[in-house]
Amino acid sequence: MDIRLRVWRQAGPSDKGRMVTYDVKDISPDASFLEMLDVLNERLIVDGDEPIAFDHDCREGICGMCGMMINGVAHGPLKATTTCQLHMRHFNDGDTIDVEPWRAAAFPVVRDLVVDRSAFDSIIQAGGYITAPTGTAPDAHATPVPKVDADAAFEAATCIGCGACVAACPNGSAMLFTAAKVGHLGLLPQGQPERDSRVVGMVAAQDEAGFGGCTNAGECTTVCPKGIPLTLIGRLNSDYRKAATGRRG
Ligand code: SF4
Ligand code: FES
Repeated sequence: MDIRLRVWRQAGPSDKGRMVTYDVKDISPDASFLEMLDVLNERLIVDGDEPIAFDHDCREGICGMCGMMINGVAHGPLKATTTCQLHMRHFNDGDTIDVEPWRAAAFPVVRDLVVDRSAFDSIIQAGGYITAPTGTAPDAHATPVPKVDADAAFEAATCIGCGACVAACPNGSAMLFTAAKVGHLGLLPQGQPERDSRVVGMVAAQDEAGFGGCTNAGECTTVCPKGIPLTLIGRLNSDYRKAATGRRG
């Protein structure tokens, strides 16, 4: 496949940045999107040019490091798919593809396609944990968890923290991410002691980090590679209301 790429190049946080056009030739349809960028980067290095900076790690859809706007869509055109799991066969020979970093106030661009997502860390630090006694691991059946709760908690726990939900949201809101983390722990017995302080703390951290408010646009769940459902945001709102008013139960 021959592809024309228009890629956002930005030398650093204070650089203005611009789109640069590259022609990439003879790409296998079975190459992943990141492998296609690797091929381009190898050529740029051989030519003495700066390679395109982009985040990646596992390349199997589980770490949440990769992520870029591909033709204006977070993670590209394939539903429930991370950028590293997107293959070139989903494009057409001769296509022109625009590639940009996440665009969100709380995710400043570091370089090219790399953004600083440490704002997510501040939300996790505000409550994304449980307190448990140290010592040997308890027996697996020591704390019974109803199957329906275990399944719902597992679904929430599949959030990989990629940030696509923020990039897709017209308000730059992190609500789907926060709701996944609040829901994951709040659905389990082990998460009950800190349930109220967790939701209040994580929502406050989200606001402090500069994420926008949620207006139920729903764009987040559409691009989420793990299919985190909007119902978790409803659950967060309910939890938050009960925690803030002391009316749980
Ligand atoms: S909710 Fe989905 S889109 Fe948002 S960070 Fe988690 S996995 Fe990524
Ligand atoms: S590189 Fe790990 S999810 Fe894409």
